[in-house]
Amino acid sequence: MKKSKKLVNNQVSFQGLENKTIVLGISGGIAAYKCLDLISSLRGMGANVHCVLSHNAHEFVTPLSLSTISRNKVHTNNFEIKDSWQPEHIELAKLADLILIAPATADIIAKLAHGICDDLLTTFVLASKAKVLIAPAMNPNMYDHPATKHNLSILEHKLRYQIIAPEFGEMACGDIGYGKMAQISSIAQIVASRLEVHGSLFEKKILITAGGTREPIDPVRFIGNRSSGKMGIAMADAAYARGADVTLVSTVKVERSYPVILVETAQEMQESVESEFDTCDALIMTAAVADFRPLFVSVHKIKKSDSEDFTLDLTQNPDIIDLLGRVKRENQIIIGFAAESEELLSNASQKLKRKKLDLIIANDITVPEIGFGSDDNAVIILSNDGNKETLPRMPKRAIAEHICDILASRFLEIKELTLH
Ligand code: C5P
Repeated sequence: MKKSKKLVNNQVSFQGLENKTIVLGISGGIAAYKCLDLISSLRGMGANVHCVLSHNAHEFVTPLSLSTISRNKVHTNNFEIKDSWQPEHIELAKLADLILIAPATADIIAKLAHGICDDLLTTFVLASKAKVLIAPAMNPNMYDHPATKHNLSILEHKLRYQIIAPEFGEMACGDIGYGKMAQISSIAQIVASRLEVHGSLFEKKILITAGGTREPIDPVRFIGNRSSGKMGIAMADAAYARGADVTLVSTVKVERSYPVILVETAQEMQESVESEFDTCDALIMTAAVADFRPLFVSVHKIKKSDSEDFTLDLTQNPDIIDLLGRVKRENQIIIGFAAESEELLSNASQKLKRKKLDLIIANDITVPEIGFGSDDNAVIILSNDGNKETLPRMPKRAIAEHICDILASRFLEIKELTLH
């Protein structure tokens, strides 16, 4: 997403975050020194930035530099006597359009996950209803520690929080691994996409499929697959939280505020998806659709016979995404998923081209503990403009948020093209 200052009638006009107030929570890690650049970027996009320091953050960055760069008073403790009668945490809570915690240490992540309020920063986050973006930054062993992973996943499963995944690299302490705070430009971009009317998916009609289809053999048996539907449901929840008009076509029953059409077979899924496709802005085919179904479905339960062998004739199912890729309008976006057990990249990129998709989310199903049935996955996102992005292991909801960010910038590009 390109956001920049523009000269309009010789006046500087900021793009993206005008009239938005971001409360930046800074916790005590060495990456706190990067906050000054982060504040400059956010201000450059038009935002009003207020800083709240955790107790230890003082050791890494001074209130003087933060207030000078943000051009606002810096908030540090709960018990200051001020001009206003309102408690400071309540005042800040009402002020924030978005809360960004960067850097977020293991300590603040643990406190937020468990509702501990022992300073102004943690108290204000609990008192506010604003969305919270968290940019972890810590030593790779601390990031990898089961306690940190558990705390991050608690936050990630709440609709209010989004984790901005840290990057791989050499840390200030010399260790190498995941734990470097995401780049300032990526953080600023995610902030912008979350604030543009809930991430620019506002009123976009998004059709999402979830689960694995079941192809009946007889009244008792079916051909199925291991898909749990978790990725598709996470996708639908993330898009809905950003204001999208979501319809979920699912093989798994879920109670949600958006419409859920329950289907069982690939043909039923095709029927529902096709009936909604014309009016949708994006189709996200997360479902694992059976490639084959029994040619004949027995009305009665098939009995064992004397023969050792049993032959089931199969016929191909329609490839829903392939058919719709051929008829899609130029401004419709289609996203597919590819679960592969070999040649991940070449298989996924062939599918991207053959099925005329905008994006394909590829994952290697041979990696233990992630993917089917798990809450986590690790994926590679290939796009039709040649981009390739690797997301390390993270909760499916975090992957969904990332896909929503890409979707939001694609919609923005389409809008800009339509305007010119
Ligand atoms: O070819 P493959 O099944 O691996 O392609 C995966 C993608 O195609 C997924 O997005 C899946 O939902 C979609 N698909 C489909 N109809 C099928 C098979 C797969 O829409 N019959």
